[in-house]
Amino acid sequence: MRLAPAPSLSARLVHVRASMARAGLDALVVTHLPNVAYLANLFATAGAAVVTATDFSVIVDGRYAQALRTLLDSPSAPDGARARIVAASYDETIADVLIESGAARVGFEAESLTIGRFRWFERTMAVRGPEIELVAADRVVSAARVIKDAHEISLIRDAAARLSAVALDAIPEAQPGRTEREVAARIDFALKSGGFERPAFDTIVASGPQSALPHARPTDRVVGRGELVVLDFGGVYGGYCVDLTRTVFTGTPDPDRARIFEAVLDAQAAAIAAVKPGVRGWQVDAAARRLLGDRGLGDAFSHGTGHGLGLEIHEEPRIVQKRPAASDDTPGGERLQPGMVFTIEPGAYLPGWGGVRIEDDVVVTADGCEVLTTVPASLTWSRR
Ligand code: GLY
Ligand code: MN
Ligand code: MN
Repeated sequence: MRLAPAPSLSARLVHVRASMARAGLDALVVTHLPNVAYLANLFATAGAAVVTATDFSVIVDGRYAQALRTLLDSPSAPDGARARIVAASYDETIADVLIESGAARVGFEAESLTIGRFRWFERTMAVRGPEIELVAADRVVSAARVIKDAHEISLIRDAAARLSAVALDAIPEAQPGRTEREVAARIDFALKSGGFERPAFDTIVASGPQSALPHARPTDRVVGRGELVVLDFGGVYGGYCVDLTRTVFTGTPDPDRARIFEAVLDAQAAAIAAVKPGVRGWQVDAAARRLLGDRGLGDAFSHGTGHGLGLEIHEEPRIVQKRPAASDDTPGGERLQPGMVFTIEPGAYLPGWGGVRIEDDVVVTADGCEVLTTVPASLTWSRR
């Protein structure tokens, strides 16, 4: 796996420490695994980290002890990181590290730590370190993650090229006579064969009336002739997620379906054209929504236009509709900046009739965006 180079990791820590200083935190307990991966290059199913102004402790249990030591001896080691191996439990070890650190004010990741775990820390520290103040910290690591660094952009660009290649093989698998589940299995096989570590989410194959459900699960329904089929799939490559949707028609499209497909494609183009630094997520959403509204499909577009991509399949920034009383720090209010990566995926869904979604991944550049996925969007794909 291509790991972030040490200078990238150092820059990430600098960013996180600056946010900690602004929030008046002496220590940050990192328990969200994608954040541990981001800061430490540690891709594991368990782990934690504690960041202070001078120290960086990476905590794993015995299953990952050898892997962590090898990592910390390698050129991909985060600068100055120290390994801590769990003795009794992760949380006991985190408590040990906090007490040894001398931190007075400690932040916990409010977006992801459960209330149960936080309460445990409150009870434990009340006995072991009553002078330590525990606070809910918001978005300290995710604020750094929202702007991808050069390593991440290079990895995501490669992943998107790989996904585009997979799509050329996988989309024609949507053949009449196969069940949705079988088509999904073939797509998953193509993802793995194409070098992805795993699917980024459960592959969606939604045919006929099922295509009107934006997040349908593949069923045993047999794909028929003359049906819309929504194919939404993504992969994890080097730890990073990419995401693509194409909608095809198994036969010669009727004018209504062709018209709705064109409307969604035009809405996607309008949204992509709206992406540039300084614009807010909800302005990009509005570009797609306005176009669909003009074509009489405003009510048929029942979700947001896009979502950030990175170590998680859904992350910041959110490209969503502006809500009444929204402020700049509500989802969609953030201004886009170069290095943000997200999807543009408008859709139109008519219950009982069918739906269309088209999804690509973009990275914001100095004056617009680069579309990373490069697969033609055509309703008649399966007949090529
Ligand atoms: N299937 C996940 C997404 O497109 O957001
Ligand atoms: Mn998506
Ligand atoms: Mn998707």
